[in-house]
Amino acid sequence: MSLYPLLRPFAFALDAETAHRSTIAALKLAPKRQPPRFSDSLRTSVAGLDFPSPVGLAAGFDKDAEVFEQMLGLGFGFVEVGTITPRPQLGNPRPRLFRLVEDRAVINRMGFNNKGQAEALRRLNRRLRGRSVVGVNVGANKDSADRIGDYVAGVQAMSAVADYLTVNISSPNTPGLRALQAEGALDALLGAVHEVRSGKPVFLKVAPDLRDGDPERIVRAAIDHGIGALIIANTTVSRPTLKSAHRAEQGGLSGAPLRPLALDALRRFRSASGGEIPLIGVGGIATADDAWERIRAGASLVQLYTAMVYEGPGIARRIARGLEQRLASAGFANIAEAVGTG
Ligand SMILES: Cc1cc2nc3c(=O)[nH]c(=O)nc-3n(C[C@H](O)[C@H](O)[C@H](O)COP(=O)(O)O)c2cc1C
Repeated sequence: MSLYPLLRPFAFALDAETAHRSTIAALKLAPKRQPPRFSDSLRTSVAGLDFPSPVGLAAGFDKDAEVFEQMLGLGFGFVEVGTITPRPQLGNPRPRLFRLVEDRAVINRMGFNNKGQAEALRRLNRRLRGRSVVGVNVGANKDSADRIGDYVAGVQAMSAVADYLTVNISSPNTPGLRALQAEGALDALLGAVHEVRSGKPVFLKVAPDLRDGDPERIVRAAIDHGIGALIIANTTVSRPTLKSAHRAEQGGLSGAPLRPLALDALRRFRSASGGEIPLIGVGGIATADDAWERIRAGASLVQLYTAMVYEGPGIARRIARGLEQRLASAGFANIAEAVGTG
């Protein structure tokens, strides 16, 4: 039985960022558990990496690589740490993280608060490699004069300790960052990253706020530059109808209201790519049905963050078990067989 329903009122009595900091502090003190054993039907290979379960923790929860082992122990099949920028930065002034409880959503405008590459490198260096998948999501400092140079530096520095790198150009909270998704800029960025890669797969994380033609253009650039997978998607700057008092806060919206947008974006990328590049579905996933729908729509892996705030950390195992059952009843021996079948 999960203890989270009992703990949640205490966490929700704190402001959202204090609750997050307390959670990280508590997790750091918790004993590190071995990851659970998953059914062989959940084991899958993407971009040359073996994932024990397709249910991962999305970037932004463990920005400084402090608790990735604990999160693997709680049943995430892989963890993406970051976003990490070359130099430490404070991010935006607080408050910058808001729970929209009635909407089962979050709005954040954190602005890449993180302790920088050197600190993350030190922590990640201590990990036992080869037994689990840890990705490092890299970004640019807000005041950087050379943003592409920051991504290059991130990929170069973190390759030694990451199983995969994610180039994140889709956060709405660093002014101008999403402009790197535009045609010429994306080519220049991915070309520069390609030159410094050292054998580790590089993933690209995109925004769900797309114009006509964006999926085709981004897929082409990704394939041309040897990107290993596309992560779809980051938070949205759009505002579907919301009930909560915080609905007008600036920033990126995640959780349940993002689900239809992220699913639609995934479908558009699947039809643009025809399965030529693996896709990772993220945005509003809260149940095994949500994850299953994303996989059937073309995702080889899924990630989540916001639903964990509402449902607790047991969510990763619950979704993994639910996927195992759905695979069995649909007659698939392995998750890879289900990708893109719906
Ligand atoms: C508080 C918060 C901080 C986040 N920080 C990052 C980040 O640093 N880098 C990133 O690529 N995505 C970040 N994200 C986006 C998530 O990784 C994910 O793409 C998004 O929240 C949608 O998934 P969800 O609905 O399951 O939360 C953040 C999300 C939240 C809620």
